Amino acid sequence: MDQSDLPRRHQESLFPSVGLFYDEPIELRRGEGQFVWDADGNQYLDFFGGIATVSSGHAIPEINEPVKAQLDRICHSSTLFLIRSQIELAERIREMTPAHLDKVLFVNSGTEANEAAFLVTTLARNSNELIALRHSYHGRSFATINASGQSPWRSSTLSPLQVHYAQSPYCYRCPWGLSYPSCGVRCADDVEEIVTTTTSGNPAAFIAEPIQGVGGFITPPPEYFVRVQEILTRHGIPFIADEVQTGWGRIGVTDFGFQAYGIRPDVVVFAKGLANGIPIGGLIATDELASSIRSLSLSTFGGNPVSTTAALANLNYIATRNLRENALAMGIHLKERLFELQDRHPAIGDVRGLGLMVGIELVRDRHTKEPAPDLLRKVQEEAKRRGLIVGRGGLHANTIRLCPPLIVTRSDIDAAVEVLDAAFAAAVSA
Ligand SMILES: Cc1ncc(COP(=O)(O)O)c(C=O)c1O
Repeated sequence: MDQSDLPRRHQESLFPSVGLFYDEPIELRRGEGQFVWDADGNQYLDFFGGIATVSSGHAIPEINEPVKAQLDRICHSSTLFLIRSQIELAERIREMTPAHLDKVLFVNSGTEANEAAFLVTTLARNSNELIALRHSYHGRSFATINASGQSPWRSSTLSPLQVHYAQSPYCYRCPWGLSYPSCGVRCADDVEEIVTTTTSGNPAAFIAEPIQGVGGFITPPPEYFVRVQEILTRHGIPFIADEVQTGWGRIGVTDFGFQAYGIRPDVVVFAKGLANGIPIGGLIATDELASSIRSLSLSTFGGNPVSTTAALANLNYIATRNLRENALAMGIHLKERLFELQDRHPAIGDVRGLGLMVGIELVRDRHTKEPAPDLLRKVQEEAKRRGLIVGRGGLHANTIRLCPPLIVTRSDIDAAVEVLDAAFAAAVSA
């Protein structure tokens, strides 16, 4: 099927801010497991998974069959009626999270879920101040773009929130020029400095992604969040964990990033990978925070029967196929192989991540660490030509993001690394 006129039609009819990958954008028409096919029939190994969203793989019968059956029974009723799968999913999420997290609200995207987290914390604390991290990304709406610490994504600086930005735990580009572990995790202390010097002393919340996704898979050192939580507890500030990319086993063994970092957030925000590609978002919060909305409030599609059925089937698939364990083992193998690649390609400045959330930061020179976004684009094109889809991110769009479905095998990883090896060689000599 011809896809040649789609880029023109896309440009004519969609907002210009809706960007596309590649000099010649492709339409992905079909997927199966970790593979996708474009309209010309070309096959790709999918190492981006619809931006860390297709967690169990494409077109998985065990997930799609219950969804089809639900569509045939009833597709929508609104939250004004009891929805069995919504209740079951809320119960399941309560089981997966610590006991102090008690109440779930379902919405339709990560953006909307963060909006709800901001609403409950600002109401409960009677404050519109938020502490966020630089290099973060929390969504595209009025409040969430301004909670995001990256100017390329900030189309407006108008905001209902007063946001204060702490330094990111970005070891590769430490803002103080320090090295881990002799740095003493200075970035955690910055949260205290922000609280005491830039806020009224009563901020509504602190929000952070366990691993900064759009920021380029920036992976904090192991003690960072424990230290931050100590500071927040001392000041009585709620912790919002934005698990939109890190949730549901992506980073290996634990369901969520906050568990891997050994902390107890007051709100956990989720979306993306929960329903394997069917739109869903939500949050789980303490009873006290959940009760702070006293006005009428509803989400028409929140907890929709189709999306919550998909989520339940997806969580079953992840649990019964041991995909969290696979994410851990495959993530270790992927990083090992990428460290080998780093020895051969000087443009690879940093390899980082946990589980199947792995970033490769590209630089023009390892000494100056000057970002190399042009090279990244070439590598991405060369990888596509060789049948591999990878993502990109980072403030300078110079980090390759690898976040394949959690079902990938050792041989998929070896194949992907081989393609990247050839793509780097071709891109550098182009
Ligand atoms: C950490 C994080 N939070 C929130 C969002 C926003 O989610 P959505 O695009 O579903 O609105 C994203 C999207 O990439 C994200 O990565």
